[in-house]
Amino acid sequence: MDKPTLFSPPKSFSDEANITDETIYQSSAANPEKYWAEWAQQLHWFTPWHTILDWQPPHARWFDGGTLNASVNCLDRHLSPRAHQPNLSDHTAILWEGEPGDERRLTYQELHQQVNCFASVLQQLNIKPSDRVVIYLPMLPELIIACLACARIGAIHSVVFAGLGIDSLSQRINDLAATLVITADYSWRRGKKLFLKNTVDRSLKNCPSVKKIITVTRDPNQSTPTCHLSPKRDLIWHKLMSAATNHYPPSHQAAEDILFVLYTSGTTGRPKGIVHTTGGYLTQVYATTKWILDLKPTDVYWCTADIGWITGHSYVIYGPLMCGATVFMYEGAFDFPNQTRVWQMIDRYKISVFYTAPTAIRQFIQWGKNLPALSDLTSLRLLGSVGEPINPSTWHWYHHYIGRERCPIVDTWWQTETGAIMIAPLPGLTKLPPGSATQPFPGISTAVLNSAGHSLPPNQSGSLAITQPWPSMLRGIWHDEARYRDNYWSQWHNQSYFTGDGARLDQQHNFWLLGRIDDVIQVAGHRISSTEIENALVSHAAVTEAAVVSKPDELKGEAVVAFVTLLPNRRPSPALIKSITKRVADRVGPINKPAQIIFTPQLPKTRSGKIMRRLLRNIAAHQPLGDTATLADPAVISHLTQATNSPSSKSARHK
Ligand code: PRX
Repeated sequence: MDKPTLFSPPKSFSDEANITDETIYQSSAANPEKYWAEWAQQLHWFTPWHTILDWQPPHARWFDGGTLNASVNCLDRHLSPRAHQPNLSDHTAILWEGEPGDERRLTYQELHQQVNCFASVLQQLNIKPSDRVVIYLPMLPELIIACLACARIGAIHSVVFAGLGIDSLSQRINDLAATLVITADYSWRRGKKLFLKNTVDRSLKNCPSVKKIITVTRDPNQSTPTCHLSPKRDLIWHKLMSAATNHYPPSHQAAEDILFVLYTSGTTGRPKGIVHTTGGYLTQVYATTKWILDLKPTDVYWCTADIGWITGHSYVIYGPLMCGATVFMYEGAFDFPNQTRVWQMIDRYKISVFYTAPTAIRQFIQWGKNLPALSDLTSLRLLGSVGEPINPSTWHWYHHYIGRERCPIVDTWWQTETGAIMIAPLPGLTKLPPGSATQPFPGISTAVLNSAGHSLPPNQSGSLAITQPWPSMLRGIWHDEARYRDNYWSQWHNQSYFTGDGARLDQQHNFWLLGRIDDVIQVAGHRISSTEIENALVSHAAVTEAAVVSKPDELKGEAVVAFVTLLPNRRPSPALIKSITKRVADRVGPINKPAQIIFTPQLPKTRSGKIMRRLLRNIAAHQPLGDTATLADPAVISHLTQATNSPSSKSARHK
């Protein structure tokens, strides 16, 4: 197939697109504050703001003086007639399918009622504005209800991805001093039950702040959850809901009040609690959902991200609901009961906008082009990609076999910290170069800089920087101002935000993302914390020391490799590998399990005792070692090379 280098949007798409006026790039750049204020005006405010932006580097405040409520913007405003806006009371807000095939639908009116009820429940439990509520739920509608109910009363939600383990959960609960945890008795994954409440019970042994746990019963036909319940601490979701009133007046939150804290991994130390506030976050999430994902109330939209990640916060909950779309949610694995599941659901629910990750697309490619051909995918009109660079061949496959060459692809670059999409095409307008996320969204300023902070010319790679404050930017790291300044603002003296990504521009000013330039590991588009995995490894009785690095992986982008030193009296064996792997899965969750364990009598260290991760990365990837002059003990190299090639390390591989 002879491919053009640029793909223009089909006329039928552009004719209906939410934005097709290219002068928006110039007009927004001429006065970004005015432009963002125009977006903010489209939200519902109780009190108008007096200041659009107050920028005291590295701290920004947007829309100061204004008050609003996130749940009102997602729900209430669709229920009352507004000029030129349809009343969406009976329109489906959430369409949900469980892994076993059970289905649920909630209209905007029903979702509103549920959120009101749960807000009253929270109030009865004495949850106050700014209290932290940790939500450890699978992809159930209750996850959206819980987040919006927290927003309604002004409590701060912190969703912990339900694939994380006991240490990850207790660490986050303790950092936030959360008083309430919301979970489910279990969830389905590949036909098996994952008992989440058990994980919560085990985590809470070390979490003195928690007073109550609310448990959702996964099977609505069961009157009590399938788990241990302690009479003093445990409450059952549906019992609380049936006794609650379905009217709870929304609290008036200041624009800069915290909406949520979401943890993400850094290069070192504990995970960072990324703080997002209300007015600016909602403004940019709304703008990007409307113009990049082109969402309209007529869309049935599926973003495959779990709500435990930022993509799920911004583009499963807040963005699509503010746009009045129908949000499709799926509980389980893509290949259960077989590898046609995704395509069957797109066909069955007539999904029109599909937003997923390159790692998922690579998996679909492996499963074969014949599978999507078995389903009718003609309902699709737009495709999205997020989480890592999408390479041109994956882009072409997605475009051809899923979009059937009719659907533009929006490759969206952003981060937990940015809160919303920063670089992406406008699908009715942009001519798409496969593999590039193209241009910053109108109102956003990005650049490729060198270490001195100078802009680099096209085709030179450097660091991706954000050079102006933006509405949905993180407002800090929870209780860690020094780390906020150091991680993101020290590189260019508070002038520009350091993304940690490499990038280059082409002659047409399109941005090409080149992956992380720091030590952050990214597996299947998710940031993984090497420190958390190392802590879990050394908590195993046989392990004395461990270092975790990544190596390239065809499917997942990167895979985790653990270098492990055992106690002198322990020998590597398949049983030991299994037990170490299980330990990691228990403590920090199955997604953090190493793909390979390499046993070594010692780790390579500098004379100051720092582990030489670069060397370990090269060894794991079978690359030349490079400079080894700073090694404290050069003999370690031969140990490591032997260990990498030994059968015991190879047998550590698992799915
Ligand atoms: O390296 C970039 C990569 O994902 C990182 C952010 O990860 P996280 O905070 O977990 O958020 C993921 C979902 C927004 C970025 O620093 N990344 C994200 N999207 C892209 C990407 N890399 C290239 N192209 C993208 N479209």
